[in-house]
Amino acid sequence: MNSGKLQSNNINSDAIKNNSNFQKAILLLNEIYGESTIGRSNNFSEFINSLIEIIQSSKESRNANLLELDLNRDDYWYKTAGRSAYTMYIDKFKGNLQSSIESLDYLKSIGVGLIHPLPLLKPREGNSDGGFAVADFTSTDPKLGSINDLEELCAQSHNNDIGVIIDIVCNHTAQEHIWAQKWLAHDPEYKDFYIALDTEDEVKEYELALQDVFPDTAPGSFTYCDDIQKYVWTTFYPFQWDLNYKNPKVFLKMFEAMAFLVNIGIDGFRLDSAPFLWKTKGTISRNHENTHKIVTAWRELLKLIAPKTIFLAEAIESINDVLPFFGTEENQECNLAYNNVVMTALWAALADENVTILEKAILQSFNKPKHGDWLNYIRCHDDIIWLALKDLAPSFKLQEWSDFYSGNNYPNGLAFQAPEGMPKSTCGMAAELCGVYNDDLGLNRLKLLYSFIYALDGIPLIYMGDEIGLKNDTSFLNDKENKDELRWLHRPKMDWEVANNPPKTNAEIFDFFKSLNSIFAKTSEKGKLLLSLCNKQYQNKILRLEQIYENQEILCFANFSRDMVNIANEIINEKYEIIYGDLNLGEYGVTIMRRFK
Ligand code: GLC
Repeated sequence: MNSGKLQSNNINSDAIKNNSNFQKAILLLNEIYGESTIGRSNNFSEFINSLIEIIQSSKESRNANLLELDLNRDDYWYKTAGRSAYTMYIDKFKGNLQSSIESLDYLKSIGVGLIHPLPLLKPREGNSDGGFAVADFTSTDPKLGSINDLEELCAQSHNNDIGVIIDIVCNHTAQEHIWAQKWLAHDPEYKDFYIALDTEDEVKEYELALQDVFPDTAPGSFTYCDDIQKYVWTTFYPFQWDLNYKNPKVFLKMFEAMAFLVNIGIDGFRLDSAPFLWKTKGTISRNHENTHKIVTAWRELLKLIAPKTIFLAEAIESINDVLPFFGTEENQECNLAYNNVVMTALWAALADENVTILEKAILQSFNKPKHGDWLNYIRCHDDIIWLALKDLAPSFKLQEWSDFYSGNNYPNGLAFQAPEGMPKSTCGMAAELCGVYNDDLGLNRLKLLYSFIYALDGIPLIYMGDEIGLKNDTSFLNDKENKDELRWLHRPKMDWEVANNPPKTNAEIFDFFKSLNSIFAKTSEKGKLLLSLCNKQYQNKILRLEQIYENQEILCFANFSRDMVNIANEIINEKYEIIYGDLNLGEYGVTIMRRFK
């Protein structure tokens, strides 16, 4: 068995078969597909040969620049102190891929080290759930540019030391995708690519255990298809058809798509809707152990083509369902996962002016294995789902927070759909939910939340426009198709006029983002985070975070209330230099200190 490193880009099948990563993947795949007769008669060795072919041809066509990157990057290349990730819709950001290349300098100026453009592969025509209904995994949305433009964006990003992550929408395709069309046409190669039930009664039986994702705009989990007179499994919108991962060919096809994309220069994948891959009747069909085996196998196999490719789990679930996405030390699964429980708890702490639940959430988040990292964030293109805190707070509290952010207080948010009897989620841009344009303290709240995610262990994520305090966009209300899809409220167009020539408040926010980068960039080593439980003496209003490095410590005090608090006692006899804020913590104030050892 070889060590897992394949240096040459010409590899014979024996070298692949003897590779430790490959063998790890095959072990897992054997557990799932070894006995499977779905898709075609069972022939596991044929399946293995197809994997080998994909690996061989992809490795052979990997270009010299990418091979060099593979060699030069260490395993944690995507994590550099003080550097953030940045997520945006390409059309809303700069219009298209080519013009986005021109904005790499802008992104560098706020310390971005990783970009995550939201779906940019070819979507279905018309409503595509913001691009999450992919019609072709090997071409780009023509409105954004060509696959060559994407290749150039990756190459230029690499020249600027920026990595590129894109969505691989692995749970479903658009109903227009060629796989779906061939399946509908009874092409034997595409047999069992999707899941269809014969009768309404069967649908009811399955749905008893399932939970709607979009109960108002897309109720139910199945959609009747006239062509085959059956009910197709559609967890999300009726035009997003769930793939059938019980069929090994689906695994293969998705792997082939990833292999193609890493050779374009893509450095990582956001595994969209990852919890939903494996489905079983009578269960909620989320987070199944086979889902984890599939993801781990993809990762191991990709190591033979593009060894430094990273995976980001999009698992917006309770912490106990998110943690397994990191895998174990032996079977590592995702490099990154959204820290959605802490994100939700941050908004809860702000609403309550109390950090009790936030502290619990952070402590839970420490239970991740060492090899994985949190992607810490405040906002993204989706809604804030209060249910993420269901294990940490009573249900009336979830309802209270939901009401708070869509009520008459300082936040300017909207309540979005949720399953019956559950608290509605929240939509809105960070600046609006913090009340930046509603009262004098909004700016402090925004700074508090963002500095906090920089002080946490992991990678901070900036949602496009937050760095200049972009407002909500209500124009979707006039769009017949999208008026009920409130998530468009927080998907505004980037305002370059404001970015280039910011009025006072926006300028203050932008400068603040630049300062965050420079404060945390000084911590050049990879650190370790400690949460000091000092909130009791401050009536649960303040959290203290400590990042410990070999040569220095960074201490961050975050006041989640509008009370003034003096923290001088906290640093008695210590040689701390204040690098941000004041010993008198003002309303929603943050103080950051450093001590060299
Ligand atoms: C993910 C995306 C969300 C999308 C859904 C279906 O949750 O973040 O925007 O609607 O997947 O693809």
